Amino acid sequence: MSSIDVAARPLPKPPLGEQVRLLRRLFADPQPVLDELRSRYGPIVGLGAGPVAMAVVGGPSEVRELLAMPTSSFRWGHKFNALGFVVGAGSMIVSDGEDHQRRRSSVRSAFSRRRLNGWVPMILERTDRAVDELRASLDGDTREVELFAVGRSLVLGIVVRALFGERLVERTTEIGDLFQGAQDYLEAPAIRQVPHPFPFTARSRVRADRNALDELIDAEIADRRAHPTGDPLDVIEALVVDGTLSDAEIRDQVVTLMGAGYDTTAASLAWMLWCCALEPHVWDRLAEEAASVIGDDAGTADHTTLAELALADRVMRETTRLHPAGVISPREAVDDVVVGGHRIPAGTLVLWSAHLVGRDPDTWADPLRFDPDRFHDLTPAQQELAELGWVPFGRGPRNCIGFALAQMELTLIIARLAQRLEIEPTMPTAPPPVGMVVNRPSGGVPMRVRSRPNQ
Ligand code: HEM
Repeated sequence: MSSIDVAARPLPKPPLGEQVRLLRRLFADPQPVLDELRSRYGPIVGLGAGPVAMAVVGGPSEVRELLAMPTSSFRWGHKFNALGFVVGAGSMIVSDGEDHQRRRSSVRSAFSRRRLNGWVPMILERTDRAVDELRASLDGDTREVELFAVGRSLVLGIVVRALFGERLVERTTEIGDLFQGAQDYLEAPAIRQVPHPFPFTARSRVRADRNALDELIDAEIADRRAHPTGDPLDVIEALVVDGTLSDAEIRDQVVTLMGAGYDTTAASLAWMLWCCALEPHVWDRLAEEAASVIGDDAGTADHTTLAELALADRVMRETTRLHPAGVISPREAVDDVVVGGHRIPAGTLVLWSAHLVGRDPDTWADPLRFDPDRFHDLTPAQQELAELGWVPFGRGPRNCIGFALAQMELTLIIARLAQRLEIEPTMPTAPPPVGMVVNRPSGGVPMRVRSRPNQ
C-alpha cells in the first residue's frame, strides 16, 4: 500500500440502522436523498457494505479527481449494470479495457465534426415541421399542449435520421416503440430487473423487442455493405466503412447510441421548456436572438448559426446544470482508490453525481436559481469554477460521446421553438423530477401554447 493510501481516511457513513432506508430511497427517488447525504456527510459518503458497498461522490473537486483517474481502476461491465441486457454485451457503455477503446474510437470517428455540422439543417428542418404541425392544431387559438411528447417525438426523428439514414425515417414510430419497453423496464424497481428466463414477462418482451431491432439494424448493415449510399450524414454507413467493428458490435453500438441519446436529450429539452416558461423574459430574449441569427428561412443555417446562438447555449448549460439527465453515474472500483483523501475499497460501486455537483453551494451562487447569464462574460477565475462545477455530460475518457450532438439539438430546437411559439406554464412551479436512469419532469410539460405573431 502506498503512503497516500495509508494516510487516506475511511469513508464517512450513516449509522447502520439508517442504511436500508437510505439505500431504498436512493434507488426510488434519488435527488432528495442525495441532497440529504451531501448536507449531512459532505462531498463523499459511503453506503451499504460487502457486495453492496457504495460510495456517493458529489463534490466538484472530488468528482474531477475521480473522472481523471485511469479507467483501468474501474469496471463498467459490473454486476449491477442492468444496461447490458438492453444495449448488448458488445456495447461500449458496458465494456472495459481494449474492447471499450476500440468501440468508442470507432463511434467517435463516425461522430466527426464534419458529420455533426451536416446535421444542422436537418435538425432545424425537423423542428420547423414539428412546429408547423403544432401550429396547425392550434388553429389560431391558445391551447394546452403536453410539450414533452412533442419534443420527444422530434428528438426521436432526429436521432433515427442521424443514425439510420433516410431509408428508415418512415419507420421512426416503430423504432421508437421498440425502445419504449426497454426504457420503461430500466426505470422499474431493481428487483423487477433480476435476470430470469420466463416468458410472458416484461423482461421477455424487452428481449423480443431487442430481437426485432437487431433484425432491422442487421438489414441496414447488410444493405450498406452491398450498396453504399455515400450519404455523409449516415452513422451506420460510417461505422461499416470504418471497418474496425464486427457487425454484431456495430449493432450493439447503434442500439447504445439510440438508447443513450434519445430520452436523455428529450428529458433535457423538457426541463429547458419548464425553466424558460417560468422566466418569460428568457423565452422572449431567446426569440429575439433566434430571429436575428436564424431569420425566417432556416434552410440557410449551418454550423456558424449554432455558434451565434449564445443565449440558447447558455440556457442549455444552465438547465443541464440544474437538471442533468443522469443524476448519478455508476462505475465499480477494481482497485482501492483514494478520492478527496478518502479510501474507496476495491469492489465498491462508485456513484458520482452530476446533480450534486451542479448544485454545489461553494461553486454556484444561489444554486437553485435558473439564471443562464451566470455563464456570461466570465473572468478566467469564474470560468474555471464554472467548468469545475458543470459535469452533466461527464468528463475524461468515459465522458458522453454524444455531447456535441445533444448540445446541437438542444440549442437549435429551443431557439426555433422560442422564435415561433409563445408558451405559458400551467403551474406556478416546475413539477418534481422522476426517473432513476433518466431524470425528467413528472407529468411532462403541459403548457398553454400559441403561435408567435409574424413567425
Ligand atoms: C442531454 C443529453 C445527454 C446527457 C445529459 C448525457 C450524459 C452522459 C453522461 C453523464 C455520460 C457519462 C457516464 C459515466 O461517466 O459513466 C454519458 C455517456 C455516454 N453517452 Fe451521453 N448524454 C446525453 C446524450 C447523449 C447522446 C445524444 C448520445 C449519442 C447519440 C449519447 C451517448 C453516450 C454514450 C455512448 C456514452 C458512454 C460513453 C463511454 O462509455 O465511453 N449521450 N452520457
